[in-house]
Amino acid sequence: MLSFLVLSFLSAYAVRAVVIDTEGLPDTGLDTSTWTAGTLPPLEDLWDANDFQIAAKNVLKPKYYASYRTGALNEYTYQANLGIYSKVRLNGFSFRDVSNPQTSVSILGHNFTQPFFIAPAANAGHANKSAEASLARAAGRAGILYVPSISSTLSIEQIAAAGFENQTMFHQEYIWSNTSQVSDELARMEAAGFKAIFLTVDNSGINGVRVRSMRYTDESDTGHSTSFSLSALAGFRNLTTLPVVPKGIKTWQDALTCLELGFPAIYVSNHGGRVVDGAPTAVEVLMDIRKNAPQVFERMEVYADGGVRTGADALILLALGARAVGLGRPAMFANIWGDAGVDKLISLFAAELQTTMQLMGVQNVNQLNTSYVNTGNIVPLS
Ligand SMILES: Cc1cc2nc3c(=O)[nH]c(=O)nc-3n(C[C@H](O)[C@H](O)[C@H](O)COP(=O)(O)O)c2cc1C
Repeated sequence: MLSFLVLSFLSAYAVRAVVIDTEGLPDTGLDTSTWTAGTLPPLEDLWDANDFQIAAKNVLKPKYYASYRTGALNEYTYQANLGIYSKVRLNGFSFRDVSNPQTSVSILGHNFTQPFFIAPAANAGHANKSAEASLARAAGRAGILYVPSISSTLSIEQIAAAGFENQTMFHQEYIWSNTSQVSDELARMEAAGFKAIFLTVDNSGINGVRVRSMRYTDESDTGHSTSFSLSALAGFRNLTTLPVVPKGIKTWQDALTCLELGFPAIYVSNHGGRVVDGAPTAVEVLMDIRKNAPQVFERMEVYADGGVRTGADALILLALGARAVGLGRPAMFANIWGDAGVDKLISLFAAELQTTMQLMGVQNVNQLNTSYVNTGNIVPLS
């Protein structure tokens, strides 16, 4: 009888216990043994952005998890994005008053509570029925910027309506080969109240070869233009009165070109490792811009993303010259809970950022500069 009870207990436990391949993410002691496969775990179990990824892996259909998680080809750049921060040392200074920490920043003249934002990412509806609405609401509640993708589940107008009155959002746009689609969408974004356009310029014509996702879905037909030259870029700006920020800058030369063309800002990104496998990380590109075209940082705003998973990662990019830092996958993964998950991700991340800042002797994010980082372990690009 006793052995029967023990066996029943063990087999019940075996059904419940979940073993998840954590893909080499840092081990911070997450215990999934009480989770149920395919079911949302208790939100209280989650303590950082990587935990949200593991929870999403437990809950999402494999093809949806793959579509969010995938990088291009061997995912070297995806992995480099995650790994580069471990090579940078943050310098902390003692003997400073950090009793009144300030994290707020202005982005293109709009004030936000945090120097991090939710980056554009397609198809939020794969994680939750509320799709982009929960991302917009959570950003609004926290006072941070959200920039929905033009490949969103919800329409431009639905996302605008989901936000709060007086909430500032920007919108991402692609360069479609169908030019009337571009002008049409830009007019709708402007009418819906979005305040700036992130124009993604790293996806010319075709998506990266995203093997992990291609096992489930054909993503090759994007409708993007393959002939987006400098003159086309100039023409694009005439289609909207909103400020345009080229997203996907990966070289100092392109950064300088954007400065010379009079753009108010650039967005350094390798698209989360989803485009060119082998593209450099934001850390390397920011260092390269500083070396070869330092005037970029003085004369325009610079945003950056890629593999940012902790507040300390964000501080590295801020110290290297970024004014604000984007989170891509973490927000998509957190959205498996809808509003509650995204709220929690934002508050955990904000706490990490503020705590690390204070421990480094930084009272205000705008004091961050290269004296706070040591990049000696990183091989310069040029
Ligand atoms: C699922 C997914 C969809 C994305 N869709 C878009 C998109 O529609 N437009 C765009 O400019 N960038 C897109 N990106 C790139 C993100 O804006 C961002 O650059 C990247 O995710 C940052 O890296 P991270 O995911 O490591 O934080 C997408 C990224 C992911 C993960």
